[in-house]
Amino acid sequence: MTGEFEIIEHLAAERTLSAEELSVLLKTENADALEKLRSLAAETAQRIYGNEVYIRGLIEFTNYCKNDCYYCGIRRSNGEAQRYRLTEEQILECCKEGYGLGFRTFVLQGGEDPYFTDARICGLVAAIKAKYPDCALTLSIGEKPRESYQAYFDAGADRYLLRHETADELHYGRLHPPEMSFSNRMRCLRDLKDIGYQTGCGFMVGSPYQTTETLHADLMFIKELKPEMVGIGPFIPQKDTPFGEKAAGTLEMTLRLLSIIRLMHPHVLLPATTALGTIHPKGRERGILAGANVVMPNLSPVNVREKYKLYDNKICTGDEAAECRFCMQRRMESIGYQVVTARGDYKG
Ligand code: SAM
Ligand code: FES
Repeated sequence: MTGEFEIIEHLAAERTLSAEELSVLLKTENADALEKLRSLAAETAQRIYGNEVYIRGLIEFTNYCKNDCYYCGIRRSNGEAQRYRLTEEQILECCKEGYGLGFRTFVLQGGEDPYFTDARICGLVAAIKAKYPDCALTLSIGEKPRESYQAYFDAGADRYLLRHETADELHYGRLHPPEMSFSNRMRCLRDLKDIGYQTGCGFMVGSPYQTTETLHADLMFIKELKPEMVGIGPFIPQKDTPFGEKAAGTLEMTLRLLSIIRLMHPHVLLPATTALGTIHPKGRERGILAGANVVMPNLSPVNVREKYKLYDNKICTGDEAAECRFCMQRRMESIGYQVVTARGDYKG
């Protein structure tokens, strides 16, 4: 069996790895090898993006959802979730505050809420882009028909985040109810790319029933799709869901996968997620040091933060936008990085 160092060198040079090689990298306890993986990934990110970390203002604008994903705290069957949706006025207010704080990307994320028809989403996108033409707008509102994606794009949306969740069809079926399908998720991602969005896929690390083989399929899918963004973070159980008793993903595994993704797909925009910050107090800093280059502080109004509870113990639910913004700046400075006021487009 090839040793860890050879695998890492091969990964950095050829940007690929076999399922067996992945298994070695995910299991090894060789600290020197792990440091090599981390440092090569961080150097790769620095070669392209310098020591700049892009910030995205996340606006969680609705927690109503018609879907019932087994892992998610805002699934429709969770009767404990207190539902809310922001008005267009409130959303614009979040953007205004965010703009003043130096955000040049806004991410509108929410459940699949039928109240937000295509006409409402297009109106919202157009209103934000008219007020802030120098900002990028990212949507993360789930699976839609191609025509809807096209309409949002024509209204001005620049980017779209839709995690594929797993590239293994059987695994997909164990994470989602029967009315959701792997083929539709794949169709969505291909449509988004095809329409011209900067597109993000991704998955939870340590999701129930995940194996080295499913993770290898995820990596090969990323290699093939060539998304501009990849969102990965640990799975964290939410007590009122069917997966409430499952184990959480780990910091260590998430960091290794961030580094592997950076080496496989060097230009990708790769966030150190809130979930990573939730499982470890320095999770986001460690994520950047492992090759991530984006952070997404929350811009949602404080009175709704607690309600967008995808998983338990989510951080930053009591903090004002400005506090999060400056907290993030200090955190990044503490590791020698700088958060920047920039749209932060893909440099591929
Ligand atoms: N409705 C949109 C969608 O499905 O893409 C956007 C919102 S959805 C809540 C955003 C992401 O949160 C999902 O893609 C999933 O990976 C992540 N997520 C949901 N439940 C989670 C959990 N328990 N732990 C960690 N991440 C979770
Ligand atoms: Fe929200 Fe630190 S990033 S309080």
